[in-house]
Amino acid sequence: MSERWLPDADATDALGQALARTRPANAVVHLHGDLGAGKSTLARALLRALGVQGAIRSPTYTLVERYPLNDGGEAWHLDLYRIADAGELEFLGLDGAEVRLWLVEWPERGAGQLPRPDLTVELAMRGTGRVARLVAGSEAGRSWVERATAAHGVAADS
Ligand SMILES: Nc1ncnc2c1ncn2[C@@H]1O[C@H](COP(=O)(O)OP(=O)(O)OP(=O)(O)O)[C@@H](O)[C@H]1O
Ligand SMILES: [Mg+2]
Repeated sequence: MSERWLPDADATDALGQALARTRPANAVVHLHGDLGAGKSTLARALLRALGVQGAIRSPTYTLVERYPLNDGGEAWHLDLYRIADAGELEFLGLDGAEVRLWLVEWPERGAGQLPRPDLTVELAMRGTGRVARLVAGSEAGRSWVERATAAHGVAADS
C-alpha cells in the first residue's frame, strides 16, 4: 500500500502518467472514490499517456469506452455509477479477451461481474486536494505500485 498526496489536478495527471509508464502488459484497475474525487481525471491522464488521441469521453452514459492501444489490444474505461445492478454488465458482452487495461470507476456496482483488480486506487478529498491510496491486488500489481511510486517521485509522498 502506498499513499500519495495530490495537491491539485496536475498531480493527479502526474500519477496517471507514472502508472501508464510503468504498467504491466495486462492490468485491471479499480478506481474508488466519491463523486468528484478524481477517478476520471486519473483514467484520462493514463489513457492520454498511453497515446490515446482525440476526445476521451466520460463513460457515464455509455458505461464503457474502448480505446485501441499502440502496443496492441484495447483499454476499456468503465463508469458503473448508473447501473442498477451488476447483472446489467452481462448484456454489455464484456468478455474482455482483447482488453489489456481495465479502468473501472464505481467498480463496487459491478461486483461479481468484473475481473479482479491488480490495482485498486482509492481517491479521497482532503482540503482542496486529494489523497490517493494505491492498493495492490496481485503480484503484478505489487511490483507496479513500486515502480509507479518511484516514477511519481518521492516529493509527492504524504
Ligand atoms: N488532486 C486534485 N486536487 C484538486 N482537484 C482535483 C484533483 N484531481 C482532480 N481534481 C478535480 O476534481 C474534479 C472532479 O474530477 P473527476 O471528474 O475526475 O472525478 P470523478 O471521481 O471521476 O467523479 P465521478 O464519480 O462523478 O465520475 C475535476 O474538476 C478535477 O480537475
Ligand atoms: Mg468520473
